[in-house]
Amino acid sequence: MGIKILGMGSYLPEQRLTNDDFTKFVETSDEWIKTRTGIAERRMAGWEPVWYMGAEAAKKAIAEAGIAPEDIGLVIAATATNDFHTPSVACLVQNAAGAVNAAAFDVNAACSGFVYALDTARRFLETDESMKYVLVVASEALSRFLDFGDRSSCILFGDGSAAAVIERSDKPFASALGADGSGAPLLYARSVGVAEEVKVESGYDDGFSEKRLHKLYQDGKEVYKFATKALPKAFNLAADKAGISAEDIDWFVPHQANIRIIETAAKNLGAPMEKFIVTLDHYGNTSSVSIPLALCEAVGKGLIKRGQKLALVGFGAGLTYAAAIFEY
Ligand code: UT7
Repeated sequence: MGIKILGMGSYLPEQRLTNDDFTKFVETSDEWIKTRTGIAERRMAGWEPVWYMGAEAAKKAIAEAGIAPEDIGLVIAATATNDFHTPSVACLVQNAAGAVNAAAFDVNAACSGFVYALDTARRFLETDESMKYVLVVASEALSRFLDFGDRSSCILFGDGSAAAVIERSDKPFASALGADGSGAPLLYARSVGVAEEVKVESGYDDGFSEKRLHKLYQDGKEVYKFATKALPKAFNLAADKAGISAEDIDWFVPHQANIRIIETAAKNLGAPMEKFIVTLDHYGNTSSVSIPLALCEAVGKGLIKRGQKLALVGFGAGLTYAAAIFEY
């Protein structure tokens, strides 16, 4: 059993931060950022809540799908930057979007989160016949966790949200979800309330650096190495299940972390760059949002059309990776 995306929506905070803006607080340049990452600008949420951005994207997706919000059976939110430890973003979106009959929970698989959530949604639709529609929302405000003194990480990320309403279809669907928890200390942000003292008092070394308490820490080089392998690996695992190859894919919608990662993956997969949707130049890396945002934009521009075969491929903190192959 497969899925059909009935409608999509996105919401982006208005504030734009260009590469030149960063030169005011770290030693960097537009030229370095563009050449090493492909990013030109990104959006910043300020204090706009993650759930609010998610709800705005969800309302647009529901309107485009042309369904009643009461008919949604489940809301799954992908996020790594929830405004609350509890409740979930999904519960707040459920309420704001009027999905009064839906169950709701969050998925935290960082930048692979949307693909994890989409695959989970498909499994719910497959096993519960009473469920008509699932709303999958990704929403992030990474800017709240950035160390704006660390030039190697703060220039990479952006904020925003995107959502999709899905229903079951009889078209093929293949997915592969994976993780390597041994790489967790390479990219993380420790929860507020868990201070260094906890580690010291307990005498327990959890292997995480304390350099950036409660801020995002990334070992860029190691994550880069992981990403260039994880992208083709996740795709190939899903493609093997589907019995297809890269040639059969009309559009790759990869996680938008760095243009060089996408170019390397394209080369390794033997697929032309023209088949890869790229939005990181204007949104940066929006973690779980990057894939549905790119998908939503490409559909809106008329690039991705009904009946075309898509490969969504994510990778990120955890470390996690995930791919889903299906027809739009
Ligand atoms: O979404 C989760 C997945 N995340 C990723 O996929 C990110 C993966 N990593 C990357 O994309 C890249 O590793 C970065 C963009 C983070 C860094 O690019 P890089 O080409 O690996 O640079 P580097 O870390 O090797 O640094 C090269 C030099 C260093 O200077 P020295 O030591 O050679 O003098 C850095 O200090 O570039 C310096 N540098 C910068 N210079 C200007 C690092 N950041 C900056 C900057 N502006 N913003």
